[in-house]
Amino acid sequence: MSGKGVFIVFEGIDGTGKSTLSKKLKAWLEEGGRDVVLTAEPTEDWLGAAVRRANQEDLDPRTESLLFTADRCQHTLRIDELLKRDKVVICDRYYGSTVAYQGAALEHDMGENAVSWLLNLNGPVVRHPDVTVLLTSDPGVAMLRVGNRGDPSKFEREGYLRRVQETYLMLAREAAWTVIDSNGDLNEVLEAVKRVVQAYV
Ligand code: TMP
Repeated sequence: MSGKGVFIVFEGIDGTGKSTLSKKLKAWLEEGGRDVVLTAEPTEDWLGAAVRRANQEDLDPRTESLLFTADRCQHTLRIDELLKRDKVVICDRYYGSTVAYQGAALEHDMGENAVSWLLNLNGPVVRHPDVTVLLTSDPGVAMLRVGNRGDPSKFEREGYLRRVQETYLMLAREAAWTVIDSNGDLNEVLEAVKRVVQAYV
């Protein structure tokens, strides 16, 4: 493994195993001698807390988009610093989450303009990841997994998650992300992720 900073992002609808895979990937990279920082959006700082609070309220999706993006803007500055210090940064959700989730929520009001507005909004705020892995799942299976974690949030409805995943797949095609089906055995999914990441670390 080389020693340079690497920025890895996991995206996907709720219940696709992003957090579990992030932790397992971190352990594997550390065994290989890399310094790894695991991070996530919404973040744990006050902007992330504001976003989580907004998730409980019935806010206009445009307001939500701005909050998620504000949290990301500050988060990206911290990620930049970590990469300068040659860390491997694994980020559980990044701008794709706003484009896919809020894009699906805004579709009704804004049509196709929703996705382009969100991409334009995020463009100056984000750093281009070295690797983005989109984990896909049948939304019904994902919902079952989410159901095991307690009360589903307003984002965790099956029909909505189906639209979110379609937007994610469109983004993956356009931005050349790696798409991995997470319905199968966890160890096989992890091996597939390692094969993709190997080339960058
Ligand atoms: P989490 O469950 O991964 O912590 O994310 C919280 C919820 O927020 C999840 O349902 C996805 C949603 N979300 C968005 O709608 N837009 C975003 O930009 C992000 C980062 C998360």
